[in-house]
Amino acid sequence: MSNILIRDLIKRHGALVTVDRVSLEIGQGEFIAFLGPSGCGKTTTLRMIAGLTPASAGSIHFGTREVTHLPPYLRDAGLVFQGYALFPHMSVAENVAFGLQMRKVDREEARRRVDEVLSLVKLAHLAGRLPKELSGGQQQRVALARAIVYKPEVLLLDEPLSALDAQLRTEVRTELKRLQSALGLTTIFVTHDQDEALSVADRIVVMSAGRVEQVGTPREIYQRPATRFVAEFIGRTNLFPGGLDGPGRFRSESGERFAFGNADAPSNASALAIRPEHVSLQRGAPAPGGACTLEATVEDVIYRGALTEVVVRTASGARLAAHLHNADSGRDDLRPGDPVVASWPADAPMLF
Ligand SMILES: Nc1ncnc2c1ncn2[C@@H]1O[C@H](COP(=O)(O)OP(=O)(O)OP(=O)(O)O)[C@@H](O)[C@H]1O
Ligand SMILES: [Mg+2]
Repeated sequence: MSNILIRDLIKRHGALVTVDRVSLEIGQGEFIAFLGPSGCGKTTTLRMIAGLTPASAGSIHFGTREVTHLPPYLRDAGLVFQGYALFPHMSVAENVAFGLQMRKVDREEARRRVDEVLSLVKLAHLAGRLPKELSGGQQQRVALARAIVYKPEVLLLDEPLSALDAQLRTEVRTELKRLQSALGLTTIFVTHDQDEALSVADRIVVMSAGRVEQVGTPREIYQRPATRFVAEFIGRTNLFPGGLDGPGRFRSESGERFAFGNADAPSNASALAIRPEHVSLQRGAPAPGGACTLEATVEDVIYRGALTEVVVRTASGARLAAHLHNADSGRDDLRPGDPVVASWPADAPMLF
């Protein structure tokens, strides 16, 4: 049974439509990430689900209850919103315990749960501090602890980790995911960090300009993007506008010819995309009859830690990026100006 059901949700500001017929079915205990560029309507959609912003049209159900017109406190969702204020005169522990007191949770049980969530967000040592004595990232973690401590049926989080540094962010999101899944909390997590969405979400909702572009597991979104927008927005993509040039052949606007092996390519395809990790580079001439190859010249070599990004340029000027693993010790050290042959597996190109 679905725990959150959203039908044709619309938000209008006068003539401006910022959320445009969003429909979504979220299962009990699912961890959903809203992902999309700035201004695409993630926060507005989440605020309508929380009841902080009235919907212009459409409906929202939590389980069998319709909540479309209920105020936030009757929806009983745990919320973390950007700038969602802590109580300034209460300590960290008191802020977190507040929701439990309101729900008349036994004092001992409340203390145990507060300790548990404070250690989850790595703030146990600051339980006695006041909010003004905390950094921005620490305050954000208190807000997260406060939202999850009473184990709400629905957890709505708007960029709850945005103020944390990369390492802490990864640690807290891993802990959050563990707790969310142990307690079976139905969660919507708004982020513009793809890596975060890909690593924690059961399913990702990719939004663009107020609409849902694709809903799918992280794997589906990355490996089988439904639209050119999703292919370009998620991960790095080499994109070539152009058109089909016979069966299994594509010709880019700049004149490169690509062979591809996917049978499900649309017959009116107008763009071909290849992920950089599928591109390999070799010195020398192309293998005779090698279909999935392009001759190019190395333009740029960018060291990125685990991988090296090599950008090559074809004779007609098109650029193609390849990601080469730095653990491959036998690999050639390419330099700008080196002539290379780029190749890829026949099923690597995606067509839109
Ligand atoms: N009160 C308002 N009146 C008019 N337009 C608004 C209002 N609130 C938001 N918008 C517009 O609605 C669009 C969606 O805003 P929203 O805050 O939902 O985006 P977002 O996806 O959360 O972006 P970000 O990643 O930057 O947080 C934006 O173009 C914004 O300018
Ligand atoms: Mg936002």
